[in-house]
Amino acid sequence: MQFSVTTSTLDKPRAGIRAAGIHHKRKPAAGATVLDAARDGEITALLKAGEMDGEAGSRLLLPTGGSKGNALLIGLGAKKDFDARAARKAAQTLAAALVERPATSAVIAVADFQPRGKDIAWVVHTLVAAISDAAYRFTPFKGKEKTTPVKLDRIQLGVERTEADAAKRACSEAAAIATGVNRAKDLGNTPPNVCYPESLADTAREMAKQHKKLKTTVLDEKDLEKLGAGAILAVGKGSERPPRLIAMEYSGGKKDDAPVVLVGKGITFDTGGISLKPGAEMDEMKYDMCGAASVFGVIEACCELELPINVVGVVTSAENMPDGRATRPGDIITTLSGQTVEILNTDAEGRLVLADALTWVERYKPKAVIDIATLTGACIIALGHQGAAVLGNNERLAKGLLAAGEESGDRAWQLPLWPEYQEQLKSNFADMANIGGRPAGTITAACFLSRYTEDYTWAHVDIAGVAWKSGKEKGATGRPVPMLMRYLLDQA
Ligand code: BES
Ligand code: MN
Ligand code: ZN
Repeated sequence: MQFSVTTSTLDKPRAGIRAAGIHHKRKPAAGATVLDAARDGEITALLKAGEMDGEAGSRLLLPTGGSKGNALLIGLGAKKDFDARAARKAAQTLAAALVERPATSAVIAVADFQPRGKDIAWVVHTLVAAISDAAYRFTPFKGKEKTTPVKLDRIQLGVERTEADAAKRACSEAAAIATGVNRAKDLGNTPPNVCYPESLADTAREMAKQHKKLKTTVLDEKDLEKLGAGAILAVGKGSERPPRLIAMEYSGGKKDDAPVVLVGKGITFDTGGISLKPGAEMDEMKYDMCGAASVFGVIEACCELELPINVVGVVTSAENMPDGRATRPGDIITTLSGQTVEILNTDAEGRLVLADALTWVERYKPKAVIDIATLTGACIIALGHQGAAVLGNNERLAKGLLAAGEESGDRAWQLPLWPEYQEQLKSNFADMANIGGRPAGTITAACFLSRYTEDYTWAHVDIAGVAWKSGKEKGATGRPVPMLMRYLLDQA
């Protein structure tokens, strides 16, 4: 999908569909008024005839434009209620309507979709994200069954001349983020017989070939053994596919600028190991690498935008399988940090692969470390599928992520990391256990990680509830790439 900004009014650019907004009680927004004039009052007449009222979620297609193109009217609801949430909804309605049409191009009256209190950049981001999301298809594994392809491939964002520069900047940012989101979706949706630790390493090497400012390093199982990364190795022991630690160093800033380091959980399939998961919906545990997928997405977006900061993306990847060689409940392992862990449940593997990666990234003397992981089912119980959980050892970083989530519509909510929770991780035999019992499962998982992050500014993002959708629309969402990118853009 190609996104661009145009300053010619809605009746000028050549495009298959011209989209504008109608407020509740048949009140055309500015773009719709221009369209109406270009179409000799056709819109006014249709509104009068009661064809559309402008209610939120409604839409009307005028197929009668001839060379003037089709007009698509989107209901915006009452003007006084048109806030960010309503604007997002309207953008989704618009996106759904656009992708189901056979037209290949569209021009949008951007200001019609701008809620109070938000600037042009925000609307541009919101529209581009919604359209790209609606147009996403994952088809590499469709054999004979044909999926109807999306025809739409060119979107022009119509804005006032005075807003053009801001809109253009936002448009390239949003397009790069959309590329990153799609990358994360693709990786997440790829089946676990095709997506495994070494294949993720290949993806990272590929990306480094394509981008000058990107360098990839891969540690294989022998390197990990030499290093003493006992936790990553313990998780991968039951699999035929050995674990990998992948580092993608993006150097957009000055040489000595401390990098922001992102660490993604990359469990390419989580059976639970010897503490085997129940069978129902186990296929969805292919998404247990969505933290890693979001790291790939962010790094790709940074490359595309040539963001002037340094960012390191680290992926800690293994397949959690039951096997004669697999780690057992009761095993005690030594992590890269030197701390020992009594493994009481092999299904709490994410925190193990993260522990070693979080120790390893000390070498970057990071400005901040953010880990992203589908870490706990408890996170879904706490927040459902609306928001990710954020925890950490630095209020400023945590609040920065929450704000970035709010701004990008990729929301998160903070949970406490009070020291009292640490007691749940006590082990009689090792420095800590890898589980903390039923209460506050998301928090005790973060407590576990906190023991490996004491030397730097750190936040943990649990994305178990937001990284993919179940049911009819099963698929990866690409979250939290938008939140992370908003955070990085605010740093740059
Ligand atoms: N990958 C899962 C977490 C998960 C579960 C994400 C369901 C999304 C949906 C993780 O490795 C896991 O199994 N966690 C356990 C931890 C428990 C054993 C302490 C969990 O949440 O049940
Ligand atoms: Mn697990
Ligand atoms: Zn897992």
